Amino acid sequence: MATPRTLIDSATIGARIDALAGRIAATMPEDFVMVVILNGAFMFAADLSRALARAGRHPTMEFINLKSYGDATESAGQVRVLGTLPERLDGRAVLLVDDILDTGRTMHFARALLAGLGASPVQLCTFLDKPSRRVLDIRAEHVGFEVEDRFVVGYGLDHAKKWRGLPDLAAID
Ligand code: IMP
Ligand code: MG
Repeated sequence: MATPRTLIDSATIGARIDALAGRIAATMPEDFVMVVILNGAFMFAADLSRALARAGRHPTMEFINLKSYGDATESAGQVRVLGTLPERLDGRAVLLVDDILDTGRTMHFARALLAGLGASPVQLCTFLDKPSRRVLDIRAEHVGFEVEDRFVVGYGLDHAKKWRGLPDLAAID
């Protein structure tokens, strides 16, 4: 497999996340819960949470482990929960954070899951948005970068469990 080629470098990512955090701080209520979808969003969530702290916001953080992809680059079409879910979130405002909004199946599933736990309102925040791939009608309130239909790795995203630690976002062809 070819070496990933950088699409968005880490300095550009950092600046964008600071701007995102400013907008989130301005639109979320004082007390909110950041629910992070693992594994892919771990790096984005780490940087976003620190940018939020610099913006004076300190949300509760919860993590859910969802799986929709195998080792292939195509969605399995079904989303599964791995591990345990957060406690009830009745009446809590939630910022749902994922690495990429692709077909939309993962975010759609996660949003319904959170609604089932009582969360309200729920805003969606995704590091990347690939609107050309959408299967379900779903939009995120907060988007880091829109990308074209290429398979991307790095900054938390993997291909066959590799490349998550790259500080830049890169494409593999
Ligand atoms: P969706 O359910 O099709 O929206 O896909 C969302 C999940 O698929 C993301 O959370 C990623 O884990 C994975 N995914 C989608 N596109 C890519 C990509 O280009 N690179 C790496 N992972 C991806
Ligand atoms: Mg993911």
